[in-house]
Amino acid sequence: MDEEDIAKRYSRMFPTSSRVTYTPIVGVKAENARVWDIGGKEYIDFLSDAAVQNVGHNNPRVVRAIKEQADRLVHFTFIYGFPLEPLLLAEKLAGISPVEDPKVAFGLSGSDANDGAIKFARAYTGRRSVLSYLRSYYGSTYGAMSLTGLDFEARAKVGELTGVHFIPYPNCYRCPFGKEPRSCRMECVSYLREKFEGEVHAEGIAALFAEPIQGDAGMVVPPRDYFKRVKRLLDEHGILLAVDEVQSGMGRTGRWFAIEHFGVKPDIVTLAKPLGGGLPISAILGRREIMDTLPPMGHAFTLSGNPVASRAALAVIEEIEERDLLKRTEKLGRYTKKRLEKMKGEHELIGDVRGLGLMLGVDLVRNRETKERAYSEARKVVWRAYELGLILAFLQGNVLRIQPPLTIEEDLLEEGLNRLEQAINDVEEGKVPDRVLSKVQGW
Ligand SMILES: Cc1ncc(COP(=O)(O)O)c(C=O)c1O
Repeated sequence: MDEEDIAKRYSRMFPTSSRVTYTPIVGVKAENARVWDIGGKEYIDFLSDAAVQNVGHNNPRVVRAIKEQADRLVHFTFIYGFPLEPLLLAEKLAGISPVEDPKVAFGLSGSDANDGAIKFARAYTGRRSVLSYLRSYYGSTYGAMSLTGLDFEARAKVGELTGVHFIPYPNCYRCPFGKEPRSCRMECVSYLREKFEGEVHAEGIAALFAEPIQGDAGMVVPPRDYFKRVKRLLDEHGILLAVDEVQSGMGRTGRWFAIEHFGVKPDIVTLAKPLGGGLPISAILGRREIMDTLPPMGHAFTLSGNPVASRAALAVIEEIEERDLLKRTEKLGRYTKKRLEKMKGEHELIGDVRGLGLMLGVDLVRNRETKERAYSEARKVVWRAYELGLILAFLQGNVLRIQPPLTIEEDLLEEGLNRLEQAINDVEEGKVPDRVLSKVQGW
């Protein structure tokens, strides 16, 4: 049984819709930022398993919590009964929440959390329309897919929620309004006003859905006062701000939640990915008057609030608190960004380095003037990194995704960055053949 054989069996059994692959790694064991494949080869994981393993793969505190809880009580439904673990988790989340005095609804994935957020926002406001961003990603259940501003093909095939309107996300490197920072007049904010005047009645909009950093769009960070300005505009019209922290939350940017960098208080926040340390759990944190507007079973899942996943999530939070990982992330993030900036100085292929904390993107371009996306080069870099023992991915076809665990050892971070630079170098020097392009699918 080798990797090629397994990959073939995968394509026989799983539909194209469920996966997007980069390299054929059959992971069988992992520890913090290290992953071993079926052949015993060791990799450094610069992806944290798609931004899931913020406190590291198989974090001992998380594994211990899972084992203890599984020994005592695997499940006791939260819908009918009163298991303690989801209550303890909800109280803990309320203590770190950027939403003041929230109520909490649990689910199983980022997608279902975003679906729930649409329902709560619509029920509370009595309004049907929602605003979202182009190039955003919210997940693949019907509601989340309908909010998503990427990949409209699936929606064209299966239909979508009505009443979703899209606006451009603020992007200072690839400004959708063609501006440079010097000539910028925050057209991204005034566009919203124009949207209200020309396309959608502001008093009919329930919420604006926003990622505080657009992850799958290529780690796009808005200007610092963007959300403050937008929130003012939303407040004028009674529109809620629903923030998706599925990828950016749980310490990833050096704060519990990325929205804290922008000085606004959202009305609703969604969480998933790293929350359960690898077990499926999501949460919606919303102002209590918003969260009490749906009737019983208006947003409930039999397995939500699962005690084992809740205990794992409590252990993730304790780990971040007790090891002071927010501060560590800020420090490692600053260092990593500096190293990437230095690489930019030495490699023409790098057009931009951006991000906050350990949520970083490296935008590869063919030409720094035109900013033409370097699609095939990005695929080659990811493949070469894989050969060198570094797990990487790209977004939008050309932006390298750098999201190591917040707990990564400093020497391993350094070694990973060395391997990344080596991969970029090898691609620039033409050492990676075109034939690898057919092996990397990517997104
Ligand atoms: C910002 C964001 N929201 C939502 C989701 C969907 O989460 P899930 O895959 O757990 O449904 C993702 C997943 O990549 C994400 O990055």
